[in-house]
Amino acid sequence: MPQNDNTVELLTGKDRLGKKSRIPAWLDYLQSATGLFLALFITFHILFESSILFGKEAMYRLTKMFEGEPFIEGGEPLIITALAFIIFSMFIFHAFLAMRKFPSSYKEYQRYRAHSKLMHHQDTNLWFIQITTGFAMFFLGSIHLYMMMTSPENIGPFASSDRIYSDWMWPMYLLLLISVVLHAWVGVYRLIIKWGWFDGDNPRQNRKRAKTMIKGLVAIYLVLGLLSLASYMKIGYDHQDKYGERYVSEVKK
Ligand code: HEM
Repeated sequence: MPQNDNTVELLTGKDRLGKKSRIPAWLDYLQSATGLFLALFITFHILFESSILFGKEAMYRLTKMFEGEPFIEGGEPLIITALAFIIFSMFIFHAFLAMRKFPSSYKEYQRYRAHSKLMHHQDTNLWFIQITTGFAMFFLGSIHLYMMMTSPENIGPFASSDRIYSDWMWPMYLLLLISVVLHAWVGVYRLIIKWGWFDGDNPRQNRKRAKTMIKGLVAIYLVLGLLSLASYMKIGYDHQDKYGERYVSEVKK
């Protein structure tokens, strides 16, 4: 197969003249930037989505706000389709960049496990968490984003709860929640270490602090996500006999 200069640079890490290529560094930078963007997105997503804990009306109002209701009469679900498309593209691009770091054969994977056990190296284990949760998210996240993109009108206190409870989507959301919370915060921790963001005068102590903070954030986001999921399930359970019926705002009643 003919290979152009860029492919050769990608495979060997060197350019045509044998000088060290800048492409791997660029791809690394892009992977960090897209990862940080997606982590920020998910941080806000889980917060917004927990509006269900404040009641059906709170979640309904927020959904309508994202559909642009303050500017468009009744809201426009196509705005959600466009947003989901942008996030989906970023998600696929980030996964594509990360694929470079997957072990390329079973032998390589075995070597990595042996190395990890031998070294008791915590940061190598974090890398393993990233690879496995990333793999799971590739499928689970794609299912979720495809649904959001193609039926954005089916988002709301009853529509979402019916999907989660009666359509049996809760096991998928449970796995996605665990994967995404671990992946996002472990990812942020690895970025802090990689780029030395908070190293300051005492990198060792500040890295320890960063690890404690990240553990706390994982716990907070898992609890918040689980409480929201439980709340959607309770609403879905109570609403199962009226499956498909949409929520009507208290304000309009
Ligand atoms: C613009 C894109 C997105 C939109 C509009 C969106 C919307 C929603 C909505 C409305 C729900 C409530 C359940 C439902 O209606 O089915 C939900 C739940 C959830 N979403 Fe998304 N989502 C988006 C992107 C993502 C991405 C990229 C991820 C992670 C890869 C994600 C992870 C989750 C998880 C884990 C839950 C369940 C959370 C819980 O258990 O509390 N979402 N999303």
